[in-house]
Amino acid sequence: LAEDQSGVWRFRNLLPIVQDKNITTLREGNTPLYDLPRCAKALGLHWLLAKHQGMNPTGSFKDTGMTAALSVAVERGFEWVACASTGNTSAAMAAYAARAGLRSIVFIPEGKIAWGKLSQSMDYGALTVQLKTDFDGCVRLVNELVKAHPIYLLNSVNPYRLEGQKTPAFEMVEQMDWQVPEHVIVPGGNLANSAALAKGFAEMKLLGLIPRVPKISIIQAQGANPLYLSMQANGGRELIPVVAETRASAIRIGHPASFGKAVRALATHGGWCEEVSEQEIALAKAQIGAEGVGCEPASAVTLAGLKKLVAQGKVGPEERVVLILTGHTLKDSDYTIHYHKGDLLTAEEKAAISPADAELNSLL
Ligand code: F0G
Repeated sequence: LAEDQSGVWRFRNLLPIVQDKNITTLREGNTPLYDLPRCAKALGLHWLLAKHQGMNPTGSFKDTGMTAALSVAVERGFEWVACASTGNTSAAMAAYAARAGLRSIVFIPEGKIAWGKLSQSMDYGALTVQLKTDFDGCVRLVNELVKAHPIYLLNSVNPYRLEGQKTPAFEMVEQMDWQVPEHVIVPGGNLANSAALAKGFAEMKLLGLIPRVPKISIIQAQGANPLYLSMQANGGRELIPVVAETRASAIRIGHPASFGKAVRALATHGGWCEEVSEQEIALAKAQIGAEGVGCEPASAVTLAGLKKLVAQGKVGPEERVVLILTGHTLKDSDYTIHYHKGDLLTAEEKAAISPADAELNSLL
């Protein structure tokens, strides 16, 4: 059965119940857990792992959530689904909707998403609407749309998305021979993924499958850092929205929908929220590429954030750290080409590269 080959549906006892005939799958999940030996060495860690969610069918972690939520849309008899997106959710939604024979409509901020992602939603046949606004503006519009029409909303406020996105936590522990890592590091944008993984670990503990949960840390780009700002200013009691700007376009989000859930994930699992600069993201991405693994810019914030946590003494050399790489390197090849051509970063950003990073860079 197709669903038995899915890394999400093989956990279906722990997922929302849909009838098997409604399961819409592209054989997502079952993603590799790579080691990053050179990054580990550079950081003075004994080992460092990366769960590569970019190795999913449409090239991002969104597929694990989309298979669950789209199957629910089918079960409920919807003919249309919709989302606002910085590119990966829309690619995943378009693919799964096409698979199920549903129509999809995506709202994306014009000129602010990577071309590869835009091309995916067109290829999979979504009605693709570029709007002269940012991601947060697209969210407001899609909310209006689904209020007025019988269209199923597939943004990550949809709870079934999180059910699918919790399964990499199960896989990770399975791949580590049922050892629990000390620390999992996740990029933070709309802030659903961190909450989903936290739920996955919490459920495993509740079921007695693991004795404890890992710390979960969330890393944001400095120019799109509402969680970081809020944690600093008020311990996460109140969201401080920002006008977001970063080249890591997947996480260019100023008003995250799952803010409260992410704050709870930090509280229940321990861990920290950090912010990283544009040059730190670019260098971390190149380092992950140089391991033969690669990822998109938003995923590289995890390694950049880990460097900060190590420097602050929050991660020790013995700890088993897993970075969640959320998207494939081919998602945003423009970024990579400009970086290696040398014209991605401004002179100011280049001047702000730390001596340690500069030395690493010369070794790449
Ligand atoms: N990494 C990538 C590659 C993403 O596409 C996203 C979010 C994130 C990290 C952040 O995850 O939102 O759960 O905190 N992308 C969404 C989209 C917003 O529309 O594709 P989050």
